[in-house]
Amino acid sequence: MDVVESLEALRAWRAGVISPLGFVPTMGALHEGHLSLVRRARGECERVVVSIFVNPAQFGPGEDLERYPRNLSRDLALLGGEGVDLVFTPTPAMVYPAGFATWVTVETLTERWEGAARPGHFRGVATVVLKLLNLVQADRAYFGEKDYQQLRVIERMVRDLNVPTTIVPCPTVREPDGLAMSSRNAYLDAAQRQAAAVICRALGAARQACEGGERDPKTLAAVVERMLAAEPLVRIDYVAVVDPVSLEPLTAIAERGAVCCVAAWVGAVRLIDNLLLAAPAEDRG
Ligand code: PAJ
Repeated sequence: MDVVESLEALRAWRAGVISPLGFVPTMGALHEGHLSLVRRARGECERVVVSIFVNPAQFGPGEDLERYPRNLSRDLALLGGEGVDLVFTPTPAMVYPAGFATWVTVETLTERWEGAARPGHFRGVATVVLKLLNLVQADRAYFGEKDYQQLRVIERMVRDLNVPTTIVPCPTVREPDGLAMSSRNAYLDAAQRQAAAVICRALGAARQACEGGERDPKTLAAVVERMLAAEPLVRIDYVAVVDPVSLEPLTAIAERGAVCCVAAWVGAVRLIDNLLLAAPAEDRG
C-alpha cells in the first residue's frame, strides 16, 4: 500500500493506474462504517484510494477541529488489511494554500438541518470533496448514508458541475445496540454511550409506526421526539421527516418515500442519525 502526502505524488500515481478506480474520502479515526465503504470499493474496483484529511473548512468556530480524533498509524494498519492501494494524506496547507479563494456552494439543499445548525459546514464539505474528486479522478466514489444530507449535497454537486465520478451511497453501519458508528462516539462516557442508543431505537419505533399505517409525518416525528425526551442525557436538536431527495419537510408521505433525520446532543457531543421510514413507491413492489 502506498501512502502519499503531496498532490504531485497522487497525480503521478493516478497517471499509471488501471480502471475502474474507487475512492473513499474520510477524515480518519476509521471504524467499521468507513471500512464498509472501503470493502464495497474493493469489491467493485480494480484499484482503491482512501483519503484521510481532517478538513478545517467544514468545522465551525467552537467545533471540535482541534480535538477531532487522529490516529494515522492505526488507520494505515486497518487500510493495509483491507487491500487498499493508495492512501492520500495531504496537509491543510496543501489543500488550502495561501491565497485560496474558490468555494463551492450547493444552494437550497444545504439551507436546513445540518446546514442551518452548522453555518459554512457544507461549503467546506462540497469544496474539499470537489477538490478530492478532481485530484483522484476516480470512476466511483463511496459515501455513507449515515451523513444523509451530505450524501445528497454531494450527489447534487456532482450532477450540477458535471463531475465524471459515480457517487455510490452505502448503508449505515451500526453498533450491536443500534448506535450509528461515528468517530465522535469516542467522546461519549459510558453513561452517555448507553443513552445514545435511544436515537436509533426512536427511529426504529417511527419506522414501525409508519409500517403499521401511521402516515402523518408530524405524528411520526412525535414518536421519535417522545422517546428522545424520555432520555435525560439526550437533548434534541432537530427531528425531521423529510423527502428523501429534496430534504424538504413532508406534510404527507408521498411517492418518493420519507426519511427521518435526527440531530441530538448527548452531553457536549452532537450526534446525527437517520432512517428510511418509507421507501420510494417504485421500490415498494
Ligand atoms: P467522515 O466522517 O470520516 O466519513 C467518511 C465517510 O464515511 C462518509 O461518507 C461517511 O458518511 C461514512 N460513514 C461514517 N460513518 C458511517 C457509518 N456508521 N456507516 C456507513 N458510513 C459511514 O464525512 C466525512 O468524513 C467528511 O465530511 C468528508 C466526506 C471526508 C469530507 O471531508
